[in-house]
Amino acid sequence: MALPSQALAGHEGEHIYIQNCAACHGYNGNGGMGVPLSLPDFLATASNDYLFKTIRNGRPGRVMPAFKNLSDDDLDSLINYIRTWSDSIPPKYSNKIIKGDAAHGNTLFQQHCASCHGKKGTGGPGTGVTMSRPRSLPILAPALNNPGFLASASDEMIKRTLIKGRNGTPMVSFLDKGLSEQDIDDIVSFIRSYEAQSGVEIASTETEEEPVVIIVESPYSVEETVNNLKNAVSSMNFRLIRVQNLDSGLTAEAEEDKGQVIVYSCNFNLLDQALKVDPRVGLFLPCRVTVSQHGDKVFVMYTNPKRMRVIFNNSELNEMCTDMKEVYEEMIDEALL
Ligand code: HEC
Ligand code: HEC
Repeated sequence: MALPSQALAGHEGEHIYIQNCAACHGYNGNGGMGVPLSLPDFLATASNDYLFKTIRNGRPGRVMPAFKNLSDDDLDSLINYIRTWSDSIPPKYSNKIIKGDAAHGNTLFQQHCASCHGKKGTGGPGTGVTMSRPRSLPILAPALNNPGFLASASDEMIKRTLIKGRNGTPMVSFLDKGLSEQDIDDIVSFIRSYEAQSGVEIASTETEEEPVVIIVESPYSVEETVNNLKNAVSSMNFRLIRVQNLDSGLTAEAEEDKGQVIVYSCNFNLLDQALKVDPRVGLFLPCRVTVSQHGDKVFVMYTNPKRMRVIFNNSELNEMCTDMKEVYEEMIDEALL
C-alpha cells in the first residue's frame, strides 16, 4: 500500500518526521533503532545534500528505508526540522575524490574499524541487523559498504567524520586515536573502493516491500476515532496506557490540524514475552496508534511491525512482528467499523 499523499502533503517537517522517522530515530532525534540524528557532531558533519540523499535512497538491505513517496519539498522541510536540533551551520562538501592508498587503508580498517563496522564494512557482524551485535554497543554501527551510504556521503564528509568522530556515540575521533591525516585518507580510499564491489546482503526482500507506516482513513471525527480505539483496546484485553495530544508544539499548521492524538496501549503478557526475546521490541511496543486530521479527513496510522522485522532477523521475533501487525489490524478494524 502506498501512503496517501494527501496525508502528508503541505505539512511541516515535524509532522513528516513523526510519521516516518520518529519510530526509529526517536521523537527528538535522540535515536532508537536508528542512529541518533540530533547529535551536534553528526549535524556538524552531515551536509544537507547528504541528508537529502540518505532519506531519498535509504540504505538498501539495511533497516533505513528509502523514502520515495516523499516529495522534494517534503524532504526539504524534513531537513529544516532536523536542523532545528542544533545550532551548527550545515557544512558543504565538494565532490573531490580523496586519493589514498586503499590497500594500506584496508589494513588500518581491519585494525581500527572492523570490530564495529565489520571486516567488510557490512556494519557489524553479519548484516548488522542480527542479534550478534554486542549489547553493550548502544548504537548500531552503520554499514559502510552500503550503496545508499556511498551514494550519499562524499569523500570529504567521510574524512571529516573520521577526524572529528561523533561525540556521544562509540564512533571516536581517529585523529585523537593517533592516526595521521594520510592514514585517514587511505581509509577513505578503502571505503570508497567498496563502490566497485557488488553483493550487498539484502536482509529480506519480502519485508523490503512492506510499507514503513500503515495509514487508514477513518470515517469518524478525531474524537470519535480515539474513543472507538479506546473501546477496541479494552475489548481486546489490552491495557490503555495513555492518550497523548500531539497538537501543542505545532505552529501555524495547527489551525488546519484540529487533532493529532496518539493512543498507547499494551498487552503486558505479549510485552513481557517479547522483551525476553529482545529488549529492542520497545520500538513497536507498547502499541502506538496515531489519529490525525488532515483537512477534512481523519487518518489512523501506525508503524508497521512487519517492516520492523528486517531489524531483528530472529525467527521468534519474526512471528511476533507478524502477530503484532494482525493485532493492529484487528484493533483498527474494530475501531473503524
Ligand atoms: C525502520 C527504521 C528507520 C526508519 C523508519 C528511518 N530510519 Fe533512518 N536510519 C535507520 C538506521 C538503522 C540507520 C543506520 C543505517 C545503517 O545501519 O546502516 C539510519 C540512518 C539514517 C541516516 C544516516 C545517519 C548517519 O549517521 O549518517 C539519516 C540521515 C536518517 N536515517 C534519516 C531518517 C529520516 C529523516 C527518516 C524519516 C523520513 C528515517 N531515517 C527513517 C533506521 C530508520
Ligand atoms: C567502537 C565502535 C566503532 C569503531 C571502532 C568505529 N566506528 Fe565508525 N561508527 C560507529 C557508530 C556506532 C557509528 C554511528 C554513529 C552515529 O550514531 O552517528 C559510526 C559511524 C561511522 C561513520 C558514519 C556512517 C554514517 O552512516 O553516517 C563512518 C564513515 C564511520 N563510522 C567510519 C569508521 C571508520 C573508518 C572506523 C575506523 C577508523 C570506525 N568507523 C571505527 C562505531 C564505530
